[in-house]
Amino acid sequence: MDSINDAEMSNIGDVLNDTTRPMKERFRALFTLRNLGGESAIKCISKCFNDESVLLKHELAYCLGQMQDKRAIPALRAVLEDKQQDPIVRHEAGEALGAIGDPDLRELLERYKDDPAVEVAETCQIALERLNWVAKDGASEKLSKSPYSSVDPAPPSSENDVQTLKHTMMNESKPLYDRYRAMFSLRNMATTESIIALGEGFKASSALFRHEVAFVFGQMQDERSIPFLKMALEDTKEHEMVRHEAAEALGSIATDECIQVLQRYLHDPRPVVRESCEVALDMSEYENSPEFQYANTLLAVKAQG
Ligand SMILES: [Fe+2]
Ligand SMILES: [Fe+2]
Repeated sequence: MDSINDAEMSNIGDVLNDTTRPMKERFRALFTLRNLGGESAIKCISKCFNDESVLLKHELAYCLGQMQDKRAIPALRAVLEDKQQDPIVRHEAGEALGAIGDPDLRELLERYKDDPAVEVAETCQIALERLNWVAKDGASEKLSKSPYSSVDPAPPSSENDVQTLKHTMMNESKPLYDRYRAMFSLRNMATTESIIALGEGFKASSALFRHEVAFVFGQMQDERSIPFLKMALEDTKEHEMVRHEAAEALGSIATDECIQVLQRYLHDPRPVVRESCEVALDMSEYENSPEFQYANTLLAVKAQG
């Protein structure tokens, strides 16, 4: 990333925090800050947790987790503890804390592993398992590297038979952490058979689980997952967290078919869904124009200055 001075950093922070700007611009500013990293970027991102948009705030938490910087812990802790925040935002804060993986977070995550908001409770259960794994062998193990350069809530399982993985993934009596491990293995295989198995994941009873299936399809950017993602977005009774993730995944796959579906939900009654479609259409524009840099707020700010 280019070198950047404090004034430029704070200009990008202003774009992120400007409620009059379109959501897609604020998202680009957020991703620019995430890529820049460091203490000032964390401050700019953390300042935005009072915003009205659940979508934006959950993405702030996601980015702070991916930055893997312990200086983000106080802000994430405050969000997880704040019951006024939407469960989607608190879920993402819990997951981000798991991604940072500091053993001192155990006590905090224990406190929320039975939270009345099931998305939050399940996330904290998974994050606690991740902490165990990091403490045991996470740092040294090859498995910790995701081919999508993401910090995943769980490492992939070492099993490599698709049917066995599918059974584990769909076994509701198993801990979610083990089912996530199976899911990430299927993602890493990226075959037709493994994609069909992942699509089955939309039948799981946990909305958290279903949203993660949509998320990994977004990472894979594989056209073979479109029918599953379309079904999730089109199901207006589906949890908005799942529909949101399906919309963004369609935006990253970015075929004409994806764009048409997204356009249909640009005015969905649920803000999280319609904002996701707006951001997803912006991402699909990027996917279809090679000369364009997605997280480009730095360049825009430099051009202005
Ligand atoms: Fe999430
Ligand atoms: Fe999300």
